[in-house]
Amino acid sequence: MCGIVGILGREPVALRLVEALRRLEYRGYDSAGIAVLEGGEIRRVRAAGKLRNLVEKLSREDLSSTIGIGHTRWATHGGPSEHNAHPHVAGRVAIVHNGIIENYKELRAHLQARGITPVSDTDTEIVAHLIDLKLEEGAGPKEAVLAVLEELRGAFAFAIIFAGHDNLMIGARRGSPLAVGHGEGEMMLGSDAIALAPFTSRITYLEDGDVVFLTREGFEILDEERRHVIRPVQFTQAASLLVDKGGYRHFMAKEIHEQPDVIGHTMAEYLDFGEGRVRIPGLPVDLAALDRMTITACGTAFYAGLVGKYWIEQLARLPVEVDIASEFRYREAPLAEGGLSLVISQSGETADTLAALRYCKACGQKVAAVVNVPESTIARESDAVLRTFAGPEIGVASTKAFTCQLVVMAAFAIAVARARGRIDDEREAELVRAMQQLPRLVVQALEHEERIAEVAQELAHAQDILYLGRGINFPLAMEGALKFKEISYIHAEGYAAGELKHGPIALIDETVPVVVIAPRDALFEKTVSNMEEVLARGAKVVLITDEAGAAEHGAKTFQTITVPAADPFIAPVLYAIPVQLLAYHAAVFLGTDVDQPRNLAKSVTVE
Ligand code: F6R
Repeated sequence: MCGIVGILGREPVALRLVEALRRLEYRGYDSAGIAVLEGGEIRRVRAAGKLRNLVEKLSREDLSSTIGIGHTRWATHGGPSEHNAHPHVAGRVAIVHNGIIENYKELRAHLQARGITPVSDTDTEIVAHLIDLKLEEGAGPKEAVLAVLEELRGAFAFAIIFAGHDNLMIGARRGSPLAVGHGEGEMMLGSDAIALAPFTSRITYLEDGDVVFLTREGFEILDEERRHVIRPVQFTQAASLLVDKGGYRHFMAKEIHEQPDVIGHTMAEYLDFGEGRVRIPGLPVDLAALDRMTITACGTAFYAGLVGKYWIEQLARLPVEVDIASEFRYREAPLAEGGLSLVISQSGETADTLAALRYCKACGQKVAAVVNVPESTIARESDAVLRTFAGPEIGVASTKAFTCQLVVMAAFAIAVARARGRIDDEREAELVRAMQQLPRLVVQALEHEERIAEVAQELAHAQDILYLGRGINFPLAMEGALKFKEISYIHAEGYAAGELKHGPIALIDETVPVVVIAPRDALFEKTVSNMEEVLARGAKVVLITDEAGAAEHGAKTFQTITVPAADPFIAPVLYAIPVQLLAYHAAVFLGTDVDQPRNLAKSVTVE
C-alpha cells in the first residue's frame, strides 16, 4: 500500500526522503515521488516504477531544501503512471496520500464547476485543489486543511506542505496509519516507524481522526473533535531492527529461514515448557463461559484462522465461525454482547480487518487481536493483544507471520480446551511437548529445500495447479495455492480433497499438477483415495507427506516431498514450510519480483 514520509529537517532532505521510501518499498508500490520547497516554491520529482527511476531523475536535480514529503504509490484511482504519482500539487499545496477518498467524484464535480480541471486521475489531487481553494479564499494553511478534512469521506493519511511556509508540515489520519517522528531539531511523518528508522526511534502514533501540525521546534495534535491532545512519545524497536536481506537473495527466503527462530520466540511467550502449561495473560473474557466465538482476517491470516478453528473445535469443543474480514460486516453477523472475537493480522493495519474489529466492538464483543506489529491500529484498538514475534515481515507474501499466527492459535486452542475442562494436565503437557519440537522439526523440513526447488521448477511450467488437503490440511491447501499464485502468477486453487469430485475434477488432465498435502494421520487413507482419483485421470501428483506416507504411496506419484514425522497436532505448522518453498522456488525460477509481486501490497489499508 502507499507509503508516506515527510521531513522537516536541518539538512537537505531529498535523498533522506528516498532513504525512508526505500524502507517502505516492502508495502508494495508502482510509482514514487517527492516534493520539496526550494526558495519557498514547490519542486516535485516523480517517476513510474521502482525507486531507482526516481533516484535517476533526482541525480539530475540540484535540491537543497530542508523540508519535503515523499510517497510510494500503489494505484487505486488512476493507473500506475508518472502523472498519477504523488505528490500532487495544486497552486501552493503539495500533498501525499494513503487511502481512498470515497466521495472524490462529487468533489471533482464541485471543482469542475469552479473551473478547475484536475490533471491526474487521482482522488488525491482533488484534495490538493480543495485546500488550495481555501487558501485562495484567504484561509491560512491550518484552517484550510481542517475545513477540507470535514468534506472528505473515506480513509486516508496525508502529509502536506505549502509554498511560502518553510517551517510547517501538516499530517492527518482517518483509517490509514500515520506516525510522527521526533529528531534532533527536526520532525518527521511516516506511514510507520520502519520508514523513519534511519532517523529516529522516538515515535508518536497518531490516533484515528488526528491532525498534526509540525514545525522544526515541535508539534501540536488536534483529535477528532479538534481538541488539543497530547499523545505519548514511544521508543520503537523498528528503528533498531535492521531491515536487510541478511545474505539471502530475497526477503522471502530470509523470512522462510527465520521460522525456527521466530516460532521459538512466539512459543516462549505463551508456553511454559518446564511446567507443560499454556499461559495467555490478559484475555478479556472468561474462556470457560464462552458458548461460541468468531475469527476474522484476510488472506493468509484468514487461513491461519481456519486452522485455528479446527484446533479450537476439536480440542475445546467450542463452535468457531471464521470469516473473511471484507465480507464479515456486510453479512451483519449477529454477535452476542460480551462474547469473544479474535482478529488476526500481521500488519495490524488491514482496513477490512480493522473494520471487522470495530463492528465486533460495536456489537459489544470483546476483541483479542493476533498481530505482529504491536504499535499497529488493530493492536491499539483491541481489548487484548496476542502478539506474534515474527519480527518485521518485508516480503509481500506472508510466511513467518503465518506460522507464528498458527503457534498463537494452537496455544489459544489449548488454553480454551483447558479452561473448558476438555483436556487435563497430562494432555496439556503432551500438546506443549509436541509444540516444543517445532523449531527443530522446522529446521529439518527446511533441509529438503533443494529437492523442493527441483519440484518447483517442474510446477513452474504449469498453467493451473490444484492443491488438495483434508481436515486441518484443507486450509493449508488454500494457503499453498495463494502463495503459489501471488508470487509466480500461475493460477492455483486449494480444494478440500473430498470436494474435488463435486466439480473441480473436471479440470484434471496430464497438464494440471495436483499438490496433495497428506501427513500419515487419521485422514490419510481418505485423502489418498482422492489422490487416486486424480491419478486415474492422468494428473501429475506432487505428494507432500512424511516418511510413512511416502513409503506407502510415494511410488505412484510424479514427485514426493517429505516432511519430518510429527504429532498430528503440529502438522499444519510443518506443512507450511514445503508449500512456502514450492511457491518461492517456482517464482525464482520464473524470475518474478518475489518480494514485491505485481499488483500486491504488504499492508492493505484500503477496503
Ligand atoms: C498473502 C498475504 C496476504 C495477507 C493479507 C492480510 O501472502 O500476505 O494475504 O495475509 O493481506 O494481511 P495482514 O495479516 O497484514 O492483515
